[in-house]
Amino acid sequence: MSKSFYITTPIYYPSGNFHIGHCYTTIIADAIARYKRLKGYDVYFQTGTDEHGQKIENKAKEAGITPKEYVDHIVSDTIHLWDTLHISYDKFFRTTDKIHVEAVQKIFTKLYEQGDIYKGEYKGLYCTPCESFWTPIQLVDGKCPDCNREVHEVSEEAYFLKLSKYQDRLVEYIESHPNFIQPESRKNEMIHNFIQPGLQDLCVSRTSFRWGIPVPFDEKHVVYVWVDALTNYITSLGYMGEDDSSFQKYWPADLQLVGKEIVRFHTIIWPIILMALGLELPKQVFGHGWLVINGEKISKSLGNYKDPREYIEKYGVDAVRYYVLREVSFGSDGAFSEEALITRTNADLANNLGNLVNRTLSMVHKYFDGKITNPNASEEIDVELTSMICNLSSIVDDKMESLHVNEAIEAIFEVLRRANKYIDETMPWVLAKDETKKDRLETVLYHLLESIRVSAVLLEAFMPDTSKEILRQLQIDDKSLSYQDTLCYQVGSPSPIFERIDKD
Ligand code: MSP
Repeated sequence: MSKSFYITTPIYYPSGNFHIGHCYTTIIADAIARYKRLKGYDVYFQTGTDEHGQKIENKAKEAGITPKEYVDHIVSDTIHLWDTLHISYDKFFRTTDKIHVEAVQKIFTKLYEQGDIYKGEYKGLYCTPCESFWTPIQLVDGKCPDCNREVHEVSEEAYFLKLSKYQDRLVEYIESHPNFIQPESRKNEMIHNFIQPGLQDLCVSRTSFRWGIPVPFDEKHVVYVWVDALTNYITSLGYMGEDDSSFQKYWPADLQLVGKEIVRFHTIIWPIILMALGLELPKQVFGHGWLVINGEKISKSLGNYKDPREYIEKYGVDAVRYYVLREVSFGSDGAFSEEALITRTNADLANNLGNLVNRTLSMVHKYFDGKITNPNASEEIDVELTSMICNLSSIVDDKMESLHVNEAIEAIFEVLRRANKYIDETMPWVLAKDETKKDRLETVLYHLLESIRVSAVLLEAFMPDTSKEILRQLQIDDKSLSYQDTLCYQVGSPSPIFERIDKD
């Protein structure tokens, strides 16, 4: 039986248009999920939408429709965007799904009955757009430290989750599980800035609005949206539901990807809820950086973005996927610019990859009518390329295991660059003029086909359409990830994979 791998993205607020920053987490999660499938894992990749809360209630009121009508429209648009980007999610989960609502109510009741949730009164500073409470010292210039907007005083009867009770256990867990919070810098930030100063019990219900999951034993309260949202990672698997076989199979999650501003929810509130429920914690929460434009986070509130579909329509899905995966060192912030997207597409995809496939297939047709095997007339000069092909899969594996996704993709393009250089060094058009060099010419072209084949198989994780198209042109079914000596190629006609983009 294959090993399982459960990977999640945050569930998105359907509160307006999506931007390329949202696509970032999802494209990376997709590349990791596809890669794990390629390696034979039984992958469960989950994404979805976080549909409750005051922000949504307010937006729906402004639009003169019900909150459910409001989110339904955006959710179908989101699913369409993910499908356009070829996101291979196994489950798209909505927090308005009945299965989730009922399970959250059971979780809340269980925690209340066992004394981890209790009733009290809340007085505090609340940021509505971020659905977050802050203490006065956490504010920056009197405003929300995340979005720089006004916070307001809230005072209400409320239920509280005993975070304080679990503080020591949480610190001990984080320290004894070095992979739990990654990268390292985020772990230090959580411990020193948030946990060690002292965890206060968390207000986990609201009475000031209605669009949420009602507390089942006290219906004027709705469940705090972060408790509602975080539990999606287990309710979607059937936890507390009629059929929890997926939960038994996939929990604990192997990897939970989240943006850096929500690491604290995922590494403090979420593990404490799980501890209180007596469940295992996810194996890893990885907090990635932001895509920024001119140094600022791409965000709905700043409005500094275009609809990602514009880029997809103009440059193609795989150009957008490639750019996002390749440009940013995962974990750090990375600049997004349309100009850099065009530069990368031209240099890496049209020149390096596209030309290599086109030149090689054209030569295979011209000199061997498309049919090639390996006569093994190898020379010293071949060793560097063939050993790079042989090592590629293990390099990509190391990089993907440590989530250096941009370096994994870079390793593939290094092989492609080396293959292009190999054409210039071996000069097949010169070999073709000499009848006695026929075997040598065939060997050279065979090595080139192998470099393209292995790269194309690996590219399935990053650029699925491109991978499929290259393998279609090669007309080869062999998906092995290592250099093969004895394949019989009968390649199809070459057609351009990426057109150069004219910047003007
Ligand atoms: N609903 C919560 C998540 C709940 S998970 C239990 C939420 N939603 S969100 O729609 O605001 O953000 C979803 C994800 O997109 C977050 O991980 C966030 O960090 C990410 N991004 C939003 N803007 C981003 C960039 N500019 N760059 C990279 N990721 C960004 O938070």
